[in-house]
Amino acid sequence: MVVKTLFVRDVFSLAGGSRVELLGWVRNKRLHGKLVFLDVRDSTGVIQVAVKVGVASGSAYENAVRVGREAAVRVVGEAVKDPRAPGGVEIACRELEVIGDALEEFPIKPGVGARFLHDHRHLHLRSPKVSAVMRVRAKLLDAARRWFEEHGFVEIHCPTFITAAVEGGATLFKVDYFGREAYLTQSVQFYQEAAIYGLEKVYSIQPSFRAEKSKTRRHLTEFWHVEAELAHAGLEDLMKVVEGLVSFSVREAVERSAEEFRTIGRTFNLSSVEPPFERIKYAEALELLESRGVSLEWGSDLGADEERILTQQFEKPFFVTHYPREAKAFYHMPDPHDGRVTLSADLLAPQGYGEIVGGGQRIHDYNQLLERIREEGLNPEEYKWYLDLRKYGSVPHSGFGLGVERLLQWVLGLRSVRSACLFPRTRARLYP
Ligand code: 4AD
Ligand code: MG
Repeated sequence: MVVKTLFVRDVFSLAGGSRVELLGWVRNKRLHGKLVFLDVRDSTGVIQVAVKVGVASGSAYENAVRVGREAAVRVVGEAVKDPRAPGGVEIACRELEVIGDALEEFPIKPGVGARFLHDHRHLHLRSPKVSAVMRVRAKLLDAARRWFEEHGFVEIHCPTFITAAVEGGATLFKVDYFGREAYLTQSVQFYQEAAIYGLEKVYSIQPSFRAEKSKTRRHLTEFWHVEAELAHAGLEDLMKVVEGLVSFSVREAVERSAEEFRTIGRTFNLSSVEPPFERIKYAEALELLESRGVSLEWGSDLGADEERILTQQFEKPFFVTHYPREAKAFYHMPDPHDGRVTLSADLLAPQGYGEIVGGGQRIHDYNQLLERIREEGLNPEEYKWYLDLRKYGSVPHSGFGLGVERLLQWVLGLRSVRSACLFPRTRARLYP
C-alpha cells in the first residue's frame, strides 16, 4: 500500500501535461464510442478523466467501458488543460485499474426522493454536498473549542447514563441498567455544575438524547450538544459568553469554508453574526407576536410556530430573556425583582430558524432549590447529589446548551436538522 499523495484538488493546479496518479471513485460515466468520460471523485473534488482508444492502454479502455458508478479506481495519465472540461482541466488516461468494483448498480440516482436518500444515507454520504456539510460542521466545532480554550474553559466529559431528568420527564429515554431503571442524558448541565467547584469554567461537546415524539424539522432524538457552565456568573455574563462563542465560531467556519458554501449553494452574510446580539424580554416577544396577529398566553413556552414568526422579523440572532417560571425547568433562578419570571435566556436564530441556545442563571440557594423541586412535584431524593452542591460554598453560576445541528441548520440554510447529521436519529429513523 502507498500513502496517497495526490488529490483531485491538486490536479487542477498542475495541468500542462504533468503525469498524475489518482485514487478515487467513479461518480459518473459517459460513453462516446471510442472515448469514455469518467468523472472521478475523491475527498477533495471531482475531475473528468478521458479514456480514449489509442491514448489509453487496451485494458484501461475495457475497464472504463465496464466499470460501474462508485467503483474505486486508480487512474494514471496526464493532466491537460481543456476548456470543455469542468474546471478547465482533465486527465488524459493511460492506465485505469479497478480497485473495488461496483457489484450492483449504485442505487442513488438523480431524482430519487428525500426518504430514499435517508434510507441509503450510508451511500449518500459520498455526495459532495453531504461532505461539505460535514466539513463545515467539523470547522464549527473546531472553532468553538478554540474559543473556549482561549477564554479559560476546561473541556470535561460527562456520563451518558443518568438517574434523574434534567429537562423534564416527558423526553427521557429509559434504559434497562442491570435491572435498574436508568436514562440517557438530556444535558450534562448538572455534572458541569458539580465541576465548576474545582474548575470554575467548563465546557463539554457530546451527544444529548430526547425522546421527542413530535416530528419536526428541528428535533432529533440524539443531537450534539455544546454546553458550558461558569462559576460567579449571572445572566448578562452568560449572554456575553454565548454571543462571543457563536459569533466567533460561525465567522471562523464561514471564512474557512468558501468552497463548501459554494458546493452547498448557500451564501451567508457575516454581518449577521456581528455582535452585539439584541436582547428582548419574553413579555416583549409576546407583544411582537401580538402585533403579527399571534396571541400566546402568558406562561406558555414559545413553540416552533411562534419562533418562526418572531424570528422572521430579525436579521441577526437575538436573545429572548426572562421566561416565566412555568415555561422553564425547575433549576432556573427566579428573578429577584419579579418572581414570576426567571433569569433565563434563549438565543434564537433569525429568518424563521428559531432557538439554537437555551440557558440562564441557576438557583444556588439550597432551600430555594428544594422548594422549586417540590413545587414541580419532583422527588428531592432523586436530586440528592445535585442539592448537595448547594450545601458547600455554593456560588451564583450560569450556563447554557447549544444544539450543533440547529446552529448548522441556520448557517447552512438546511431544510431539516437531519441534514446536519452523519446518520440522523429521529423517532422514525433508527436505520441506517
Ligand atoms: O433548551 P435546552 O433543552 O436546554 C438544556 O438542555 C440546558 N440544560 C442546557 C444547559 O443550560 N446546559 O437545550 C439546549 C439546546 C437547544 O437550544 C437546542 O439548540 C438543542 O439544545 N436541542 C435540540 N436539538 C435538536 N433536537 C432536539 N430534540 C433538541 N433539544 C434541544
Ligand atoms: Mg430550550
